[in-house]
Amino acid sequence: MNSVIYFRDVSFKYSNSEQFALKDINLNINKGEFVLITGPSGCGKSTLCRIINGLIPHFYGGTLTGEAIVLGYDVSRTPTYVLARYVGMVFQNPENQLFLSSVEKELAFGLENLSIPKPEIEKRVQEVAQLMNIETLLDKAPYELSGGQQQKVAIASVLVMYPKILVLDEPTSNLDPRSAMEIIDLIFRLNKKFGITVIIIEHRLELVLEKTTRLIFINKGRIIYDGDPRKILKKEDIDELEFYLPKSVKLYRDLKRIGIELPDVPLSPSELATVLRGELKRRRLLK
Ligand SMILES: Nc1ncnc2c1ncn2[C@@H]1O[C@H](COP(=O)(O)OP(=O)(O)O)[C@@H](O)[C@H]1O
Ligand SMILES: [Mg+2]
Repeated sequence: MNSVIYFRDVSFKYSNSEQFALKDINLNINKGEFVLITGPSGCGKSTLCRIINGLIPHFYGGTLTGEAIVLGYDVSRTPTYVLARYVGMVFQNPENQLFLSSVEKELAFGLENLSIPKPEIEKRVQEVAQLMNIETLLDKAPYELSGGQQQKVAIASVLVMYPKILVLDEPTSNLDPRSAMEIIDLIFRLNKKFGITVIIIEHRLELVLEKTTRLIFINKGRIIYDGDPRKILKKEDIDELEFYLPKSVKLYRDLKRIGIELPDVPLSPSELATVLRGELKRRRLLK
C-alpha cells in the first residue's frame, strides 16, 4: 500500500465552536511525499495535523465525520499512543516540547516509554545525534541552546522513534532565516534518505517551495489548491494565494501579464536568476 494518509469527506467541529474548523477534506498522500501546507491563520492547518496524529478526536472534544485513515489505522478507533509511534510531531515552539535536564535524556525519553532495551536506546540516540549533527549538545540542558538548536533536538527526539510520517507545524516561525533554512534542508534530507513522508506547514513559501512535490492551500477549512506547485503557480486565477507568493513568483506573474512569459516559474531567487539569464540570452540581450 502506497497511501499513508487517506481522508474521505473529513469534517471537524470543535465542541465549543459554531463553525467547522475543517470541512469536506479529501486527501490522499503517498509514502515519501514532501507536502507543503499553507493558508491564512485560523484556516484549519493545525487541526489537520491533530487529526493525522489522533489528538483529534481523542484529546480535543468535537465532532469528527468522514473517514480518516493514517498508515492503515482508522484514526477515530486507534489510541493516540499507537499513532504516536509512527507519526512524529514537531511544533512551532520547541521549548514546549523539551522538558528534561539534558538533550540525551530528551532523545531517550520516548523510547524509554516504549520499554525499548537500554542498549538499543543508546544506539538510536547516538545514531540520530550524529545524523542531526548535535552530538556535542547531548550533555547540555535544552534551555542552554539556541532556538535553532532546540528545534533540531525536538526533531531528533521524534526521529529516534523511527517515524514513518513527520508532521511539522510551522517549525521555523520562531527561527532566524539562516536556522530556518538549515532546519528545512535537514528535513529535506530525511525525506530523501529515509523516504519519510513529510507534511510541513509553513508561511514562508520561499523556504520550502523548491523542495516540495506538492502544495496544499487551505482557506476557511477547505482545500482550495492541491497539486504540483509549479502548475498551481502558473495559473491565472490564484488570487487567494497572491499574498503568500515568493517575490520570484510574483515577478514571473507580473512579467506574464505584460506579455513576457518565462519558460518556467522560478520558485527561489536562484531559480529566478537562472531563468532570467536564459531568457535574456535567448533574446540576445546577454551573451
Ligand atoms: N482547541 C480549540 N477549540 C476551539 N476552537 C479551536 C481550537 N483550536 C482551533 N480552533 C478553531 O478552529 C479553526 C482552525 O484553527 P487552526 O487549525 O488552529 O488553524 P491554523 O493552524 O490554520 O491557524 C479556527 O477557527 C480556530 O479558532
Ligand atoms: Mg496553526
